[in-house]
Amino acid sequence: VKDERIAGIASSIRVIPDFPKPGIMFQDVTTLLLDPKAFKDTIDLFVERYRDKNINVIAGIEARGFIFGPPIALAIGAKFVPMRKPKKLPGEVISEEYSLEYGTDKIEMHVGAVQAGERAVIVDDLIATGGTLNAAIRLLVPKPNAERVGVTVVECACVIELAELKLASLFCEFGLPYTLNIT
Ligand code: PRP
Repeated sequence: VKDERIAGIASSIRVIPDFPKPGIMFQDVTTLLLDPKAFKDTIDLFVERYRDKNINVIAGIEARGFIFGPPIALAIGAKFVPMRKPKKLPGEVISEEYSLEYGTDKIEMHVGAVQAGERAVIVDDLIATGGTLNAAIRLLVPKPNAERVGVTVVECACVIELAELKLASLFCEFGLPYTLNIT
């Protein structure tokens, strides 16, 4: 049974065909942000899922994880950790690379932002191939010969999952990302 709030959230998201390239149906969450009820309902659904789960860290992925992550973090009493595109963070960073259709990209996190034993939820607006979330997980979990402190990734959380790519998201030992299932 779908939560009654999902329909309003779904209808507030604008779909723009052929952006940024022909063939891409761009899911534009800026229209969700223009609708205070839809925005609040979105945050509330995540807060209801993650409160009382001993979550210390909300890790938000640039750019739209920076919109949805902080209000969730404030509501559940967790810290917010930004995971940024390369060369944006001023301090010492660790990086993880991921594949794009052509070439690769990276996300980075400040050393010292998380501590061993903390429990994290990773937040973004949308999962497509899962490559970005997979790199975000690798920034947090322990790894031989790397500066990973060993954080438990409790879940990845996104507003939107591109339906045709559902199987591609079976990538992760932590299970499927939680999404609001609006498509
Ligand atoms: C989008 C989206 C996710 C990512 C998902 O970001 O916000 O971060 O793609 O794709 P994946 O599951 O295939 O990895 P985008 O690359 O548009 O970057 P931006 O947030 O900086 O605009």
